[in-house]
Amino acid sequence: MNCSCEQDYEYHEFVECISSALDARDPYTGNHSKRVSDMACHLCGHLGLSEEETMEIHIAAHLHDIGKIGIPDRILLKEGRLDDEEWQVMKKHPEIGADILSKSEKFGRVSAIILHHHERYDGKGYPFGAKGEEIPLGARIIAVCDSIDAMLTKRSYRNALPKSVCREEIEKNIGVMYDPEIAKLALSDWDELTAYYTN
Ligand SMILES: [Fe+2]
Ligand SMILES: [Fe+2]
Repeated sequence: MNCSCEQDYEYHEFVECISSALDARDPYTGNHSKRVSDMACHLCGHLGLSEEETMEIHIAAHLHDIGKIGIPDRILLKEGRLDDEEWQVMKKHPEIGADILSKSEKFGRVSAIILHHHERYDGKGYPFGAKGEEIPLGARIIAVCDSIDAMLTKRSYRNALPKSVCREEIEKNIGVMYDPEIAKLALSDWDELTAYYTN
């Protein structure tokens, strides 16, 4: 799965440079962001979005976790689950990321997508508890792809989940965590969307 906008977009190489800065601290995140970006681009194609909008979402997906660069090593690189205090610090990464990107006006909409990538459709996400269509479309797309990749890859505290379990989780959270249209689209195109994963 490769996005056609990758060759054309003038910022793409620059974006890869920025994300490699985070890679240098946390090698896990770079590959995660690349996979989320591939899936997001794939869904954008099915949603019939314009090339411009697809590019913004593609770039935002590459950079969605860039704010983790501002999270201390003891939390970012911790083996095992975070405690409450550590979790509160980790939850700052969308705002840190949006702030980094806000230095360039051209990244305005990309920055807004990054800011909202952990919101939930039902309004119970963070940082603002925005709900439904208050959440930028790109952030709603990335939320689904981010969850899929998180479930289908190994974490320090658990193994990768089987695709069937991941699928059930997405199904269960239609309209709860995820935008119904986007979640249903992901499920209808499941095999292709998750072709990379072998679990
Ligand atoms: Fe994130
Ligand atoms: Fe992520």
